[in-house]
Amino acid sequence: MSERTIALVTGANKGIGYEIAAGLGALGWSVGVGARDDQRRKTAVERLCAAGVDAFGVPLDVTDDASATAAARLIEDQAGHLDVLVNNAAITGGTPQEPTRVDPATIRTVMETNVIGVIRVTNAMMPLLRRSASPRIVNMSSSVGSLARQSGPAREQTAGPVAVAYAPSKTFLNAVTLQYARELTGTNILINVGCPGYVATDLNGFRGVRTPEQGAAIAIKLATLPDDGPTGQFFDDAGVVPW
Ligand SMILES: NC(=O)c1ccc[n+]([C@@H]2O[C@H](COP(=O)([O-])OP(=O)(O)OC[C@H]3O[C@@H](n4cnc5c(N)ncnc54)[C@H](OP(=O)(O)O)[C@@H]3O)[C@@H](O)[C@H]2O)c1
Repeated sequence: MSERTIALVTGANKGIGYEIAAGLGALGWSVGVGARDDQRRKTAVERLCAAGVDAFGVPLDVTDDASATAAARLIEDQAGHLDVLVNNAAITGGTPQEPTRVDPATIRTVMETNVIGVIRVTNAMMPLLRRSASPRIVNMSSSVGSLARQSGPAREQTAGPVAVAYAPSKTFLNAVTLQYARELTGTNILINVGCPGYVATDLNGFRGVRTPEQGAAIAIKLATLPDDGPTGQFFDDAGVVPW
């Protein structure tokens, strides 16, 4: 079995995922660049390698069972184990997302990627993660999924826009993460949720105020937690985010 630290980042061809891959690569880790499009994945791997990262491409559409299974097989062949999985890939689902106007198909599509995709990929990778000495799973969520913020007095400032597919998909992802943390109690696997803040990426038409590198910082922190670190928690750069 390889002694290198191996990470997989889903949706790593651009945005925050790309910078998570770059940040983990800067630690000297070998990083699988999970991406569904061949050309976008190839370009990202080339950029990362040119920057000195030990990066390799992992074809991965998180909505596709066969793709997740093939990705796990590729990592098994390449490295024999997986130390860190960052479930970063997500979509907003576009508009409209006012609850009274939404197309139910939008909800299904967003849930398939943002929630079921995470479960699909995590479970495909679980046998490889169990072979690691210090497995970490980081689920990239958003504070817009915080029910506390959406129902609190400052919600107009802190809860993001009304988005009945995207925001609840992150609430669901947070709840799913807690279920994993409970099942995995007593194992060495730590699983947490991170919010990157409001980052300028394709996801929001580059309206965010933080850089993708700043957004990646919380994922890198949660990917490198010590063995006695937290599990089943929700963090951003400022600390614990209320559920
Ligand atoms: N940007 C923000 O302000 C912000 C705030 C809070 C949370 N987040 C979260 O941070 C994470 C990264 O977001 P981002 O802003 O970097 O978004 P982004 O620039 O739109 O990147 C999203 C990534 O996910 C990939 N993806 C989407 N569907 C996929 C699928 N079915 N299979 C595989 N990959 C798929 C995209 O690949 P393609 O290039 O092929 O589409 C892309 O690589 C997401 O979980 C997002 O919800 C972002």
